[in-house]
Amino acid sequence: MGTSGDIWVGGLDSSRRAVHIVNGMGQAGWARELTRALLEGPLPRRWAHSQGVAARAVELAPILGGEADMVEAAAWLHDIGYAPDLVDTGFHPLDGARYLRDVAGADERLCRLVAHHSCAVFEAEQRGLLETLQAEFPQEQAGLRQALTYCDMTTGPDGTHLRVADRLAEIHSRYGPEHLVSRSISNATPCITSAVEVVLGRLSDVRAAGVG
Ligand SMILES: [Fe+2]
Repeated sequence: MGTSGDIWVGGLDSSRRAVHIVNGMGQAGWARELTRALLEGPLPRRWAHSQGVAARAVELAPILGGEADMVEAAAWLHDIGYAPDLVDTGFHPLDGARYLRDVAGADERLCRLVAHHSCAVFEAEQRGLLETLQAEFPQEQAGLRQALTYCDMTTGPDGTHLRVADRLAEIHSRYGPEHLVSRSISNATPCITSAVEVVLGRLSDVRAAGVG
């Protein structure tokens, strides 16, 4: 992405509009406005969810150091692949990451995080898209992937904070037992729960160090 000036949002339809990047705003501010432009109107519940996921990411600043802005940006953007204008394969991590790479000109690491958010490889496998996903978007480092997975998988569809077990149950009940997403989430559960445990452990280490 550029560091200043106008970035064209949309690109896949005729309703292009520009989002001005304010100098010093960082990737998170840019990501918030891009996500707002893509989700707020057509998918208000996804927009509410994205706001909650980004709020979780802000809470992780003490364990993320210099990567906090990158993870917050990925938290804002992780579900843009659901935007009606972006749907192509129907696998939202890949559709979102391709849009970020090809249309928005986003940072490569941001594209990788969105492509692999919340252990997306398991759903990619179910959809026959695993090789495509991995060929186009290599994995980012584990600590950042786990942080983003924690943010998404402890946030409900309306943006409220949930325990990971409740979030997984919510996904199963929303899609039903036969759905590809439910099968994928079952396969991904060890990956998701271990990411959440790692992040909670890091947070408690930082808090303990702060108290001591
Ligand atoms: Fe999400």
